[in-house]
Amino acid sequence: MLAQLNELHAQSIERLNQSTATAELEAWYKETLGRKGSIYLLTRQVGGLSPEERPAFGKQINIVKNELQAAYDSRLAELKGSELQAQMKSSAIDVTLPGRPQPKGGLHIISQTMRDIYRIFGDMGFQIFRSPEVETDAYNFELLNFPPHHPAREMQDTFYTSDEDVILRTHTSPGQIRAMRAYYPEPVRVILPGMVYRNEQVNARSHLQFTQVEGLAVGEDISMADLKGTLTDFARRMFGAGRETRFRASYFPFTEPSAEMDVTCFVCEAKGCQLCKYTGWLEILGCGMVHPMVLRNGGYDPEKYTGFAFGLGPERITMLKYGITDIRHFWENDLRFLQQF
Ligand code: DAH
Repeated sequence: MLAQLNELHAQSIERLNQSTATAELEAWYKETLGRKGSIYLLTRQVGGLSPEERPAFGKQINIVKNELQAAYDSRLAELKGSELQAQMKSSAIDVTLPGRPQPKGGLHIISQTMRDIYRIFGDMGFQIFRSPEVETDAYNFELLNFPPHHPAREMQDTFYTSDEDVILRTHTSPGQIRAMRAYYPEPVRVILPGMVYRNEQVNARSHLQFTQVEGLAVGEDISMADLKGTLTDFARRMFGAGRETRFRASYFPFTEPSAEMDVTCFVCEAKGCQLCKYTGWLEILGCGMVHPMVLRNGGYDPEKYTGFAFGLGPERITMLKYGITDIRHFWENDLRFLQQF
């Protein structure tokens, strides 16, 4: 019986070493060490031995069992390892390759500035009003009180089309007329954002397309104080709580009186630096009380209604805020620039 056991031991080890797949190993285990395996069957025969022979046999069978178990464990580990290797080689996924980065999208810096502006005016009760980029001469100029050969048109070199009346808007102000005509006789509180176009030499300081955000409030008893309060509040929320503003008299055909608003320079805190050209002030926007002619063209009786308007340039604000010195960066789609924001 001992000889039988040793024979079984040797055979089992040999079969174990010949197996080349974990599935084969499982079968081996069942047949050898399993509940009805060959070792078990041999154990059952102990009863046929003489009482003197039994202890030695029992001891030996335990040794064999343990050795077979250890041999099985190590062979299993070996085969599992090589099967994993083979699988990694043959399958399409190579887990050792570095991952492919997911390109991250982001909002264009001008869109971010526009959204900041929308949020601030939105909080003050202004709604966004969209108006077309392709306009007529009437909306872009005439209804805004620019007579046909008025020199103020010179400031806004225009892209004309083959239809002599159809142009690309040079500013967002034509939206004032469209908004008033849409709202009449209700009070108006709108901002008009979007792209504008000018037939200009492209350089670091001017471009032939850029964005503007126009604002318009029309109602009864609206005064210059409302304009100053609204825009000063805007400046503080946009550029910091301590910002001071000042209004300088200016000229636009569609407002009377007209002004430009400056804020204290946020780089030098008004001490004087290169950005503010040592004045302590930065010009931010144009504004004024809506001209009676423009109110009338929008449908509102200037005897009863008044209003204020303003127009600002998100590119300019963004350039000031981030120290960007060339306006062309915004529309060149260079990721090295865009990814910085
Ligand atoms: N439309 C003017 C421009 O493009 C900016 C502007 C100035 C708009 C004064 C206004 C305003 O509404 O009141 O230069």
